Amino acid sequence: MNTTAATLSGRTALVTGSTSGLGAGIAEALADAGAHVVITGRTRARGEQVVTQIESQGGRAVFVPVDFAAGPGTITDLVVTATEALGGRLDILVNNVATLVQPAPTADVTAEEITTAFGVSVATPFLLTGLIAPAMVQRGDGAIVNIGSISGIIGAAGSALYGATKASVHLLTKAWAAEYGPSGVRVNAVAPGPIATERTREFGDAIAPVLARVPSHRMSTVAEVASAVVFLAGPEAANIHGTILSVDGGATAVRDEPAAVTKLGNHPHPG
Ligand SMILES: NC(=O)c1ccc[n+]([C@@H]2O[C@H](COP(=O)([O-])OP(=O)(O)OC[C@H]3O[C@@H](n4cnc5c(N)ncnc54)[C@H](OP(=O)(O)O)[C@@H]3O)[C@@H](O)[C@H]2O)c1
Repeated sequence: MNTTAATLSGRTALVTGSTSGLGAGIAEALADAGAHVVITGRTRARGEQVVTQIESQGGRAVFVPVDFAAGPGTITDLVVTATEALGGRLDILVNNVATLVQPAPTADVTAEEITTAFGVSVATPFLLTGLIAPAMVQRGDGAIVNIGSISGIIGAAGSALYGATKASVHLLTKAWAAEYGPSGVRVNAVAPGPIATERTREFGDAIAPVLARVPSHRMSTVAEVASAVVFLAGPEAANIHGTILSVDGGATAVRDEPAAVTKLGNHPHPG
């Protein structure tokens, strides 16, 4: 644990989908900031590996297996088990889990794929928040951080289903900020652009033209996205409610027309 920056010392956290990828990185960063963390996912071996990694750094974590596609009863059981494992209190919920949706034309997307994607990526955070936030409200204290995406902000051909789930997560962030904020529970989101993970490594050179249009010219690292989550979950974000914090190298902030400024001469503000 990084004792000089233990801003979450004494806090407890549940991170969904934390056996790998961004979720594992978020769990490690929260533990590094002092939080006692529940790791969740379907794969026990990977979950226990994340716990071992956190413990080797002096942090505290426990793995609770769950398959969010198995229905609402599973989600209730997770909340009970996780709360017990954390000593009876959950201070921070990170709604990170999402179903991997391959880009596809809308006409090719099946009803089953829509149900699964919205089930894991939208219904899961919805039900978890409904189960966990009331106890936070009673204590007048708690933080929820949702993981959205650049795909929930900008439309892209082939991304209708994934983008719709992420736009839903962004809206839920604002609705819950309105609902729970007055009771002292802060709800915010982080919206990453492409993150350098095993999954995005599969894109290979195909992602280069996309990154060429991004101000930073690169993907985010897991650590960069995770530190935004730690910030929003912690005391330094005490008066931040309902924000969607983009960690995307500026991709959603700027117009993709650098050459247009010189071409347009005296008309630099088209549209
Ligand atoms: N990677 C990117 O470039 C990127 C960009 C923008 C936003 N995001 C968002 O960041 C978040 C994490 O993405 P990622 O790339 O790290 O994903 P990932 O590598 O596919 O990891 C997904 C995690 O969710 C768990 N999971 C998946 N389905 C589950 C289910 N039915 N029940 C329980 N656990 C389940 C997986 O664990 P098990 O396999 O052990 O169940 C794994 O721990 C997502 O919300 C994603 O939309 C990612």
